[in-house]
Parts: sequence; structure tokens; C-alpha cells
Amino acid sequence: MDDTRGRITREGIRIYEDADFGGMHAAGRVAAELLDAVAPLVQVGETTERLDAFITQMVHDRGVTSATIGYTPAGRDPYRHASCISVNHVVCHGVPGPKVLKDGDILNIDVTVIVDGWFGDTSRMYVAGTPSRKADRLIQVTHDALMKGIEAVRPGNTFGDVGHAIQAFVEANRMSVVRDFCGHGLGRVFHAPPNVLHYGRPGTGPVLEEGMFFTIEPMVNLGRPETKELADGWTAVTRDKSLSAQFEHSVGVTATGAEIFTLSPAGLFHPTYLAP
Ligand code: MF3
Ligand code: CO
Ligand code: CO
Repeated sequence: MDDTRGRITREGIRIYEDADFGGMHAAGRVAAELLDAVAPLVQVGETTERLDAFITQMVHDRGVTSATIGYTPAGRDPYRHASCISVNHVVCHGVPGPKVLKDGDILNIDVTVIVDGWFGDTSRMYVAGTPSRKADRLIQVTHDALMKGIEAVRPGNTFGDVGHAIQAFVEANRMSVVRDFCGHGLGRVFHAPPNVLHYGRPGTGPVLEEGMFFTIEPMVNLGRPETKELADGWTAVTRDKSLSAQFEHSVGVTATGAEIFTLSPAGLFHPTYLAP
């Protein structure tokens, strides 16, 4: 993958140029459109592998590339699906399968596509049927935590400011932020520096600069923050089996704040379902 644009900071973070925002916007829009299109299919009785098959078909029809099919981080088996679908106490990297959705199940669907070499990575929460009040509240808090993080994105702020904004909001709502997974730089590559932590102290970490592209993707648990990985080598679950939610946007730092590349054209980022 060509990754020679702009320049690199001392922390290894790439600074892209003004002209590169257009490529990220196009990739982010396709990713968001996939998540818009799958929304009506999320129903009681549906399986996660059928939702994934629909996404795979749309990726093909659009003539773009899935970044997750064949994705093989060091020491892992290749990932084989166009989406991660994480149901209930699955924190992230849920592998689509024959599991049938039942009333009240909550699920995160996460897609990453490559469009003209640019990566668009986004996820949001769906519900089969009607969520419980506590599930609905978890989803609301997780969405709002992501937006608090994005509000802290501007040149001169630090990644610690972003993490702190998310953590403070989540913990004020007596929920917990997952520490075992983080957001990441992206652009012409899928996972690049920095690690974007969803917790932290104000003023710590690398300073944000115009032209940085990264994801913010907080995972929030109703119970304790600890996770464990299942034997399939991908699926991460809460150790205490409590419900978990996640939202993800890909963003770029502008002169004055953030541009969100993965906004939903249909206005379906949140909610994607009817509240109880
Ligand atoms: N889209 C995920 C992220 O937000 C990564 C999924 S990797 C996979 O970074 F292999 F599990 F699909
Ligand atoms: Co991501
Ligand atoms: Co993602």
C-alpha cells in the first residue's frame, strides 16, 4: 500500500495534505452507506452471517474492497468476513455466523472498505426487536461518549484530552470504558499510529495536528471493563458477561476541529432502531 504522502511526526503519526481529505471522505461515505443499507435487515430471526453476506454483496456491487477479508495481523489467522458483528456481551471482532437474533439483542456492525486506496472504518449499534431500557441507555451513552471524544479533536489538544473526554462521560454514567482495544490512525493503511485510547489524562499524549486521520471507537460495558478472547482467535467478550456497545467514526483534524468522514447519508448513525 502506498503510504508516502505528507510527513510523519516524531511519534510516527502521518500528517496528510488538504487534497487527501477528499479521498477519506469518499471512502468514509461508502462505509457509512453500507451501514445504512443493512439497517432494515436487522430483525429478529435474522442471522449474523446473512447480514455479513448482504454487506459482502454490496461491497462487490459498489466495486470497492473490503479491508477485513483476508486481513491478517501478525500471529493471527486471516479474518474471512466483510464485517465484524458483535452481539450483546461481545465487545468487538464478533465473527458472523449462524447465530439467530432474538428480541432485544443489541449488536455492533463494523465495516472497513478501501476506496481508491483510502480506508473508511465505521461501526454503529443496532437492535433486533425492542431493546431493554438498560441496553438502550448503554447505546445512548456509548454514542454520546464518541461524540464527546470528537468534540475534543482540534489542533493543539492532545490524544489524552480525547480519551479523557470519553472516559469522564462514561464513568459519570456509571459504565466502564474497555482498555484492551483502541482506535487507530488510518489513511492509506488500515491500522497506523497512534493508538487512540478511549481513556486518559488531559494534556497527555501526542498533540493533535491538522492533517491527522484516525478512528475513535469507544467500547463501553455496563459492568466491568475486562475482556477476554474466545477460542476462534477473534471474538472479544466481556469477562463478566455484561452488555457492551461501540460506535466508531473515521475523522480528520482540520484547522479548527474535526471532519467526520463516516457520517451517515441517511441520518441513521444513531439511532438505527426504535427506542423502548
Ligand atoms: N474494523 C475494526 C477496527 O475498527 C477492525 C476489524 S479487523 C477484523 O479497527 F479483522 F476483525 F475485521
Ligand atoms: Co477501527
Ligand atoms: Co472498525
